[in-house]
Amino acid sequence: MLRNKSLKDLNTFGVESQAECFVEAHTADDIWACLEQYRNIPVMVLGGGSNLLLTQDIAGVVLKISLKGISVLEQTHDHVIIEAQAGEIWHQVVEYCLAHNYGGIENLALIPGQMGTAPIQNIGAYGVELKDVFHSCVAMHRATGQQQLFTLEDCKFGYRESVFKNELKNQYVILSVRLRLTKEKHQLKLDYGSIKEVLEQKDIANPTIAEVAQAVIDIRRSKLPDPKELGNSGSFFKNPIVPQQQGELLKTKYPDIPIYPAGKDWVKIPAGWLIERAGFKGKRLGDAGVHKNQALVLVNYGQATGSEIWQLAQQIQAEILEKFDIALTAEVNII
Ligand code: EPU
Repeated sequence: MLRNKSLKDLNTFGVESQAECFVEAHTADDIWACLEQYRNIPVMVLGGGSNLLLTQDIAGVVLKISLKGISVLEQTHDHVIIEAQAGEIWHQVVEYCLAHNYGGIENLALIPGQMGTAPIQNIGAYGVELKDVFHSCVAMHRATGQQQLFTLEDCKFGYRESVFKNELKNQYVILSVRLRLTKEKHQLKLDYGSIKEVLEQKDIANPTIAEVAQAVIDIRRSKLPDPKELGNSGSFFKNPIVPQQQGELLKTKYPDIPIYPAGKDWVKIPAGWLIERAGFKGKRLGDAGVHKNQALVLVNYGQATGSEIWQLAQQIQAEILEKFDIALTAEVNII
């Protein structure tokens, strides 16, 4: 156990915050030992720190999950179920799958974060969400230490949502995640955004999963800042889902607003468009800023504190509410 440990290198915003106590777990037993020992003080579970804005020092314990390993659990001639431990880096799991020609997560290349946190917010990008390949996960009940299997149904996945963010919030620690992937006849998803154009530019007519992943990597690198170079947490807000009627009204007022169907009577509006339209793209408040290529991403130009980034986020929320009558909610966890 370490005392007063800086978390600056453990959150992708790169903001300073100190953990009163810090424990790193390499096994499920380490996790249980920590939970048992610190039963009466708050324990914050930390994964890759890529969906987190630390606005203060952390009283109590920060428990960093570093369980490693990827293995094949089951396979048939055309499918495989792999299991990755919670501390595996998500993109390294993608690379493992590409190296073994296991298809299904190539569109999710380069998403920051760890395996264990992927189900919590049902990570998604370029037309694919974790739930599309999710088989199950094993999680430890924080109060009893019991390990429990959660199926796809149990997880109640939605857009950046799961049971672990809602009714079971802070009750379980995810230990490992199992994905069901294809070994042949991969179901490529090329319709989102500019994947097809990027492949065409490279003269690739029948892409492999590795080529799709590379196209996604190229697109992400062109739009999204690399946290190693510029602190950020990916999309800061969720794309708001509003009643269809409100969407239609906005469309008459702003004919160029992009609107996507989101189930019966609801539509999804890109928060990035709203934020850009409200004039925030590329804006700075001290060292906290709105990224110049993707207005949905807030960045730390160096010395911003978590509170400064949160202040900027709240300014954006207030402005979007006033201008469009839409309440943006943070996708990132604010601590
Ligand atoms: N847009 C703008 N201005 C901007 C940004 C976006 O006008 O500055 C508009 C454009 O019309 C664009 C549309 O928004 O066509 C959608 O933009 P983009 O394809 O970049 O995706 P997004 O909706 O902003 C979502 C996810 C990203 C994911 C991309 C690609 C959320 C909250 N974000 O962003 O996920 O990479 O789609 O699938 O759903 C993340 O969660 O951290 C993340 C980066």
